[in-house]
Amino acid sequence: MSYPGMFCITPLFHTAAVRPPIMKRQPREAIMSDTIGVFETPSLEATRERMRTLLSGLLPAFEIDMKAELAHEINRLKKQMNAVILGHNYMEPALYCSVPDYTGDSLELARISSETEAEVIVFCGVQFMAETAKILNPEKTVLIPSEKAGCSLAEAITAEDVRQLKAQFPGVPVVSYVNTYAEVKAESDYCCTSGNAEKVVRYLLEQGHNQVIFLPDEYLARNTAHEVGLEFIFPPENGVHGDGAMAEKKPAMIGWPGRCEVHEKFEVEDIERVRKQFPDVAIVAHPECSPEVVALTDYTGSTKQMIEYVRRVDAPRYLLLTECSMGDNIAAENPEKEMLRLCSVRCPHMNQITLEDTLEGMRNLRHQVSLSEDIIKRARLPIDRMLAIV
Ligand code: 13P
Ligand code: SF4
Repeated sequence: MSYPGMFCITPLFHTAAVRPPIMKRQPREAIMSDTIGVFETPSLEATRERMRTLLSGLLPAFEIDMKAELAHEINRLKKQMNAVILGHNYMEPALYCSVPDYTGDSLELARISSETEAEVIVFCGVQFMAETAKILNPEKTVLIPSEKAGCSLAEAITAEDVRQLKAQFPGVPVVSYVNTYAEVKAESDYCCTSGNAEKVVRYLLEQGHNQVIFLPDEYLARNTAHEVGLEFIFPPENGVHGDGAMAEKKPAMIGWPGRCEVHEKFEVEDIERVRKQFPDVAIVAHPECSPEVVALTDYTGSTKQMIEYVRRVDAPRYLLLTECSMGDNIAAENPEKEMLRLCSVRCPHMNQITLEDTLEGMRNLRHQVSLSEDIIKRARLPIDRMLAIV
């Protein structure tokens, strides 16, 4: 499907109304000591000043000042509650650069949540991420600012689907992407994230398996299968082994037709158009994009790996094929680098997480993640196995 609105490269349509042009700002090192988000807020004035410096090209001044008040109150409350705030890389810039103690991709945040000593974990991300934090910290209070922060991948598969697949392919290990709900993880043998999918699958191949069930993201599965040299197949529709690869137990990755509603929108034509206009652009994609798109990019990796690529590699300009707030966050962190800000695709679930709701959630201990003991116990195993591999 062609999606002409994804990248508007005609100057007339350059999404100025949505994305104002970047203004030159001070390098981040001059204003912040460590990674974005890891700073104290001694006063409202200091919070406001920092946010103005980081966000001045991204948001109008009145909005920055309003958000600085919310951020200051959240940070005050955070200390009072002995809470830690974890912020996914897709958080909107004002939140991302003001309240999280740690920012990162799913893997990094899962690791951090397993090590925190805070009593309360406030997860500024989506439901499956907050659930993972709860599974790793059953005794702690885990809050998510909005109950509406789902995920199209997590919605794509149920625990019953996994049980049926296991019956269909006995003995074949099930790897579930971390973008699944706890009930699905509880039926799985291993978890993986976009940052370690290849390592987890390679580990299983080294253990002597030649088939792996990989759920639920079709594109991540296809991209990973390509990396490790496995054929990608869907389960036969009639529910039995059928013929071909399965009957002979040929090496294969058995996938599922789940898609990320954000990353599936990027298309080959979008990249070709951008490359035509900016031949020297470095294009960096998330592996939830289709294999055809990934094949045309310079680098593919998790959100953290994409950020690190931009930090590490000197290119005249960069284009990110992922949720668009992350481009803004990288722009705020790397004012000297030119980010092509051609897209306006936000994840509708990540977008639910606001400073306003974060504050309300903390004030009222609202939207606590709650999972049964049985699910926590069973879902922990594949997560622990993943963390032990990578
Ligand atoms: P990362 O684990 O790469 O941060 O990705 C999470 C996600 O939801 C991507 O759409
Ligand atoms: Fe889910 Fe896609 Fe949103 Fe990530 S960007 S949370 S995979 S819908």
